[in-house]
Amino acid sequence: MEARLSIQITVNGKTVSDHVEPRTLLAHYLRDGLGLTGTHIGCDTSQCGACTVLLDGEPVKSCTVLAVQADGTQVMTVEGLAAPGTAHPVQQAFQEMHGLQCGFCTPGVLMLSTWLVQQHQTSDLRHIRESLDGIICRCTGYENIVKAIARAGELAVDEPAAPAASQREGVPS
Ligand code: FES
Ligand code: FES
Repeated sequence: MEARLSIQITVNGKTVSDHVEPRTLLAHYLRDGLGLTGTHIGCDTSQCGACTVLLDGEPVKSCTVLAVQADGTQVMTVEGLAAPGTAHPVQQAFQEMHGLQCGFCTPGVLMLSTWLVQQHQTSDLRHIRESLDGIICRCTGYENIVKAIARAGELAVDEPAAPAASQREGVPS
């Protein structure tokens, strides 16, 4: 059995300490280790983006990150967007604009959308479409996804922009 390494990650605001095999992917750790199955795994080629989470505020494909690489970071998954029974503006917008079909890609889309909203990058539809480049919706209903992201930006218009990673304290640019 492979040696395990200790990690400490803050996931959705809750700090967890654990031991993982060095090869464990963050996506697998979130799903199998923490039971956060909202993070989907839709490919084995790092292409679909269903596994997208925010790592220290930046969108990453969690199937391309080792759990040990997330040691000491803050991770947000789709479960962390809003408390049960409430909806984040992005979730509200997707509901309003019918931005999902089967829903498989939706967790990743929501996390990327949250980042776009935080960065105030939702007013240009072409930019939204280009930003979705790393996320594959098998249902191909991108039109409503794009509309929903633009709507999320409108709903969240009063929220301050989150600082880019390079502007945060302690993060090298
Ligand atoms: S599961 Fe991560 S990109 Fe497809
Ligand atoms: S809604 Fe079905 S894969 Fe995107």
